[in-house]
Amino acid sequence: MKLLTVLCIGDVFGEPGRRVLASFLPRLRAELEVDLVIANVENAAAGFGVTPALARGFLGTGVDVMTSGNHVWDRKEIIEYIVKENLLLRPANYPAGVPGVGSVVVKAAGYQVGVLNLQGRVFLPAIDCPFLRADDEVARLRAGTPIIVVDMHAEATSEKQAMGWYLDGRVSAVVGTHSHVQTADERVLPGGTAYVTDLGLSGPIDSVIGVEKDLAIQRFLTGMPNRFEPAKGRARLQGVVIRIDPESGRAAGIERIQRDLAA
Ligand SMILES: [Fe+2]
Repeated sequence: MKLLTVLCIGDVFGEPGRRVLASFLPRLRAELEVDLVIANVENAAAGFGVTPALARGFLGTGVDVMTSGNHVWDRKEIIEYIVKENLLLRPANYPAGVPGVGSVVVKAAGYQVGVLNLQGRVFLPAIDCPFLRADDEVARLRAGTPIIVVDMHAEATSEKQAMGWYLDGRVSAVVGTHSHVQTADERVLPGGTAYVTDLGLSGPIDSVIGVEKDLAIQRFLTGMPNRFEPAKGRARLQGVVIRIDPESGRAAGIERIQRDLAA
């Protein structure tokens, strides 16, 4: 049986992130025989939020499902878009009544795949409990399919690892986003859930988590607010490729990827 191949792309940051994604996605899809592409796009618009035009562009260039996190509301015009377009997720554990949805079921290679977006609460706004919301969402999704990929958008390594173990055996993968530094701890947990603490950044290499480094240094030196801008120059795409047994939903493997683009 052919395994289902899912490519998860780490946080697309500003114009460099969009450039590296557009440059590599078509060949990655072919080279890795990708069936589904999930990308976190909450920093796509100059590092803060995503616009309807950018979101439409991602869907047009081969992204199947977009996930987000704490920056999803930074561009006000996204609210009108997110209520109509279920392929852009906001974290599922926002309080009831918040626009948009936190999960979606899409078809890939003939199989139903659930994608769930959650957000941590350590060093981030205190929204509803991601663990309890995951219980509800995963139970609902599993009624329709055993193939479920979770984007856990969180600052703390511990909260992401805890979510990986919490959902082990119930979902195909838990991938962390938000910290913009790719971690080298990818593995398949004993219950069959692929896990990585952070997918990394798809954006400028010579930066402080995507931001122009001098601006970031200045803020640390002075403690004063300044306007952050995406760094320029060389860009890197980061993420993981996950192979899933489509009958059981168990992950067979997870592999990190990085692709560099010259300035
Ligand atoms: Fe974030």
